[in-house]
Amino acid sequence: MALLGHKSEPVLEESLERWESVGSGGFGRVYKARHKDWGFDVAVKILHDGVCPLLPEERALFEEANHMEKASCEFVLRVYGIYQGCPKQGIVMEFMGRGSVQSLLEGLGGPPPWPLVFRLAHQVALGMNFLHSRNLMHHDLKPSNVLLNDDLNAKLADFGLCRVSTSAPNRNGETTGGIGGSYKFMPPEAFEVSYEPVRAFDSYSYGVLLWSIVTGKEPYPAANYSLVALKIPLGDRPLLQWIDQGKAEGLKELTDLMRSCWDADPSKRPTFKECLRVTENLFSKHKKGVHDAVHQVLTRLDSPNSDHHSNIINTPPQTPEQPHDSVDGRFKEAKITSIKVSDGVSTRQLSVADKAKFVDDKRAELIQAVSEVMSITEELGDMVHGEAYSEIEAKQTSQEKMRALYLRTLRSGGETVKAAFYDALKKHHPKTVERLGG
Ligand SMILES: Nc1ncnc2c1ncn2[C@@H]1O[C@H](COP(=O)(O)OP(=O)(O)OP(=O)(O)O)[C@@H](O)[C@H]1O
Ligand SMILES: [Mg+2]
Repeated sequence: MALLGHKSEPVLEESLERWESVGSGGFGRVYKARHKDWGFDVAVKILHDGVCPLLPEERALFEEANHMEKASCEFVLRVYGIYQGCPKQGIVMEFMGRGSVQSLLEGLGGPPPWPLVFRLAHQVALGMNFLHSRNLMHHDLKPSNVLLNDDLNAKLADFGLCRVSTSAPNRNGETTGGIGGSYKFMPPEAFEVSYEPVRAFDSYSYGVLLWSIVTGKEPYPAANYSLVALKIPLGDRPLLQWIDQGKAEGLKELTDLMRSCWDADPSKRPTFKECLRVTENLFSKHKKGVHDAVHQVLTRLDSPNSDHHSNIINTPPQTPEQPHDSVDGRFKEAKITSIKVSDGVSTRQLSVADKAKFVDDKRAELIQAVSEVMSITEELGDMVHGEAYSEIEAKQTSQEKMRALYLRTLRSGGETVKAAFYDALKKHHPKTVERLGG
């Protein structure tokens, strides 16, 4: 089949072995697999139920592959070609051994050390500037789409995807964007129905992404799509008081950059060329600390105790001060983080995002408390890949099983998997969930 003019040889099913699920997003599920001839691991993104090659989502998937091929750059994920399975198809990409910025922040339970913060800020700006210079827009810049190789160097993934498929509410009024939280990185103007994306869309997302990297947090954790769509156009933004300006050299300049990126007026947002002038200068101040920072993070991620959130490397203030107005008054501090998701949702019927947050926040306690790990793992069905299942099953104690479940499935699985885990947990350990406030 001709795939929208895609020129490279397809990767056939028989060329791949040792499939392992990495996670899933708005478009499909990502697997790691070994290419038998090439001898190294690749990532394969396969569409959810993508059996018909003419579905718009699938077209977008292949367009993404074409885009990615066009954008060959150190800071943009490499695409090897199209996966031609039967009946499913997908994209074969470079496998990034250290997941994404999202999994990094989750694994550390906070932000990385400053040299890495500044390197990530710079590498993302470099990748984005390259895409824009090739007339490509990203439109889904967020922590799970900034992937990390074994040395924690960043590459951009998933650009040029159809946003409607990942971010708009479905006909039941729920948002599929909840899976990857893309809507939290969308500029205010994009919530208007007649919006046509322009480059300033990406600058806005970059501002919110910078905030996430610096604070180690997800923006507006308690807010669903409707609340974000309501409050962002009114001027709410991530909370700046989580950033302690005195903590690192250049942090004030980085904070100023994120604020100008999320300006309500798209024409006032900096281009990536302007951003990278700032980030290059800031990164140069921290460059010599990068080697140690990478070593520190990898040691921590690989340590068997990496699942508890004590000892955060760049500790943000524990009790934020009262929100303060920004210097020029153009930015109103977000109140979203303090708003409970209402919309008639009681605390007993949590949203997907709330369930995922519970699973993240209560990780240490759940590892200690949950005994029915295998029953819960079974309920997750094919969200837990066979190899991960065997690894969990092989562990001796329930704590070790839970740790493996977090590491192999929950860390990279996104909100849907975490929400499914929450539901199973509630069934098998209702008292524990209640005790922990879920
Ligand atoms: N090439 C890759 N190498 C390693 N991990 C990857 C790769 N591509 C994606 N992942 C991981 O797989 C998971 C699912 O990715 P996917 O892109 O499908 O979803 P997402 O980024 O959460 O949402 P969206 O569909 O909006 O992009 C994420 O945790 C992501 O970090
Ligand atoms: Mg993605």
